[in-house]
Amino acid sequence: METVVSGIRSTGCLHLGNYFGAVGNFLKMQDDKDYHCYFFIADLHSLTTHPTPDDFKRNTNEVLIDYLACGMDPEKVVLYAQSDVPEIAQLYLLLNMIAYKGELEKVASFKDKIRKHDENVNAGLLTYPVLMAADILIHKATKVPVGKDQVQHLEMTRNFSNRFNHLYKNDFFPECFPFTFSGNPIAVPGLDGTGKMGKSDGNGIYLRDEPEVIRKKVMKAVTDSGPTQPNSKMPDSIKNIFTLLKLVSQEATVAHFEVAYNNCNIRYGDLKKQLAEDIILFTNPMREKIKSIIYDKTYQEKVLKMGAEKARESASKTLNGVREIVGMNKI
Ligand code: ADP
Ligand code: TRP
Repeated sequence: METVVSGIRSTGCLHLGNYFGAVGNFLKMQDDKDYHCYFFIADLHSLTTHPTPDDFKRNTNEVLIDYLACGMDPEKVVLYAQSDVPEIAQLYLLLNMIAYKGELEKVASFKDKIRKHDENVNAGLLTYPVLMAADILIHKATKVPVGKDQVQHLEMTRNFSNRFNHLYKNDFFPECFPFTFSGNPIAVPGLDGTGKMGKSDGNGIYLRDEPEVIRKKVMKAVTDSGPTQPNSKMPDSIKNIFTLLKLVSQEATVAHFEVAYNNCNIRYGDLKKQLAEDIILFTNPMREKIKSIIYDKTYQEKVLKMGAEKARESASKTLNGVREIVGMNKI
């Protein structure tokens, strides 16, 4: 059995990028007997932006509800909130001692954050990859289902685990690698003609968006005046629409619009309408499930409690192993 860990930050509800980049793989892994899965809500990671206590709690529950609505089964996987497992924070402290300022400053996501929010460059942001490494190493995971944007962070996790092993002359931590069933981590684009779909990029199509909202968002997708030469290369904005279409629509639908594009008789209005309806169809069961559990606080608390207990069992074993290696008493 291989151990699997992944999480999503509680900085907003889940969008199609989170689904196809991460959760879709979580769901397949939970049904595979070869994997022992730990999936969590990365709520400590959300503290870098100083949410109010009410927001902190609400955001954690939002991700929990979305996870459950996608079909994550707390009986099959260990599903927990990161802040309910204090062992992670302790491992994070110990890993911080072997993480260097220079390497942390070079991380692309950190440089990006500085560029966008230079008013709040805190140490939590700088050491974000260390906390992420602690999330993974606390269960000694070897496979981490994530989207393309997280690949560099996993490289850092491998650096820290190898450095720890080397420093203390052991092979306590295994190496972990990104995982997707398709072979390559994917990046789901936004429909605004820019880069990937992201919570903080204001271009998310959320699993819990109502059909009308989805239609509006998709109809606003950036397009151009259309191809004038048969079989011409697609500009990024059109390629992005097709990327989403391929994720949610039937193959025949995709083929129909590809032929139309290549023959220069594509109508972008029809393409967008089809995409919107297929996204609505795809997300319908999740919206229904969200409605059925959103007010059931007792169920939500029960799931988190059960997950925390199981996660702490594994986490405390690893932490005690590390404490012993470092020279500390077991706790
Ligand atoms: P966001 O980027 O929207 O803030 P997170 O950083 O919490 O979301 O990402 C959670 C998971 O979802 C990660 O595994 C990440 O790689 C994946 N993910 C997020 N956005 C995308 C996207 N547009 N395409 C593919 N995967 C994504
Ligand atoms: N950093 C990840 C993101 O922004 C979320 C995350 C935190 C994570 N800890 C993790 C993902 C551990 C996988 C494993 O998407």
